[in-house]
Amino acid sequence: MPAKKVVALGGDGVGPEVMEVTCHILEHAGFNLEIAKPFCGAEAFKSQGNAFPDEAKKLCAESDAILFGAAEGPSVAILVYLRWFMDNYINLRPVKYYPGAYSPLKNPEGIDFMLIRENSEGLYPGREGDIPWLAQRLSDYKDPFGRTLDFYGEGKFAIRLITQKGSERIAKYAVQLAQERKSQGFPGKVTCVTKANVLRQSCGLFRKTVEEEVKRAPGIAYEHFHVDDAARRLIRFPNNFDVIVTSNMFGDILADEAGEAIGGLGISPSACLGGQKPYFEPVHGSAPDIAGKGIVNPTAMILSAKMMLEYLGMRKEAQALENAVAKIYQEGKYLTADQGGKASTREFAEAVLRDLI
Ligand code: NAD
Ligand code: IPM
Ligand code: MN
Repeated sequence: MPAKKVVALGGDGVGPEVMEVTCHILEHAGFNLEIAKPFCGAEAFKSQGNAFPDEAKKLCAESDAILFGAAEGPSVAILVYLRWFMDNYINLRPVKYYPGAYSPLKNPEGIDFMLIRENSEGLYPGREGDIPWLAQRLSDYKDPFGRTLDFYGEGKFAIRLITQKGSERIAKYAVQLAQERKSQGFPGKVTCVTKANVLRQSCGLFRKTVEEEVKRAPGIAYEHFHVDDAARRLIRFPNNFDVIVTSNMFGDILADEAGEAIGGLGISPSACLGGQKPYFEPVHGSAPDIAGKGIVNPTAMILSAKMMLEYLGMRKEAQALENAVAKIYQEGKYLTADQGGKASTREFAEAVLRDLI
C-alpha cells in the first residue's frame, strides 16, 4: 500500500509545539504515512506576510488528510480556508473520559459521546454591520414587539443563517453516526440542541429537520434540549449522551464545556469532515498563556491524529495510538501540568511513543 499523504500545519501559539511532538510520534511509530510540514503559520507570516503560502495550499490539495494545530492571529487564514473554503461542514468533537485524567466531576467514568457541531453557517463566519445601515434597508421589518430597527439607534448587528440544506446535511450525518455507534454497542440516540423557544424560525428549522431525519431511522432514539438546559445536563448527566447535534456557535461553546468535563481542553480532539479535504485539530486554541514554555498538553493533537488514522482506514494504528495515550493517563507518571503532573510536552509524547514501539 502506498503511504497516505498527510500535511501538518502547526499554526500559531502552542499549535507548532503540539504538532511537532505529534508528528514525532507518527513518524517513529512505523505508521505508513508520508508527512509534509510546509512553512506556514505565525513564522511564515513574520517572514513573508502570509501565514498560508501557496506551496502549503498546494500540498493540502494533494494530500489525503490535514493536521492543524491552532490559530490565533495570522493562521486564522488557514482555518478559514480549511473550514469554509473546503466546506468541511461537520465538526466532530468526541467527548471521552480516560481514567486518570483531571476531571472536576466526581464521577467522570464512562463519559463517551460525540458532539457534532454544524461547521459552515449559523453565526459563522461573522456577518456584522451597523444597525442604522440595516434599519434603512429593512425599513418594513418589525420585531416581535412591533418595533422597527430604527428604534434601537446606534449599534451593531450579527446575522445568523440556518439553511434547509445546512440543517439537512448535518442531521443526516448525526443519524448515520448514531446508527454506526449503535452497531458498536452504544445506545443509538440523537440529542438535538437548539434555542427554539426564542429563535423559533431558525432553531425551529434546525430542530424540525433533525427530528424528521431521525424519524426515517428506525431504532434511533431522539431527544431535544434547549442549549441552556443542555449545558447543565453536560455537567449533571454527562453519561446520558450518545450523539449531540447542534448549530455552530452552540457547538463551539458546548465543546469547551464538555472538554472540561473529561479533564480539560488539553485532551479534546476534533475532526472537520464532509468537504473537499478533511482536517483534524484540537478543540483548544493557541493557549497564549502557556505558549513557548514546553508544557502544553499534546493529547488533544495526538487524539486528533488518531481520528485522522481512523479516517484513513488505519484502524489498528489508531487503536494502538489511543491505547498508548490511555495508558499514560492510567499510570499517571508522565502527565502534563494541566493534569496535575510535572511532565513536559516532550516527555508526555516520548512516553506515548515508547508504548507504541
Ligand atoms: P485556548 O483554548 O487557547 O485556551 C484556553 C485555556 O486552556 C488557557 O488557559 C490555556 O492555557 C488552556 N489550554 C488550552 N489548550 C491546552 C493544552 N493543550 N494544554 C494545556 N492547557 C491548555 O482559548 P483562548 O485563550 O480563548 O484563545 C486563544 C486564542 O486561540 C484566540 O485567539 C482564539 O481565537 C484562538 N482559538 C483558536 C482555535 C483553533 O485554532 N481551532 C480554537 C480556540 C481558540
Ligand atoms: C474553535 C475555535 C474557533 C471557533 C475560532 C478560533 C474561530 O474557537 O475551533 O472551537 O469559534 O470555531
Ligand atoms: Mn472554540
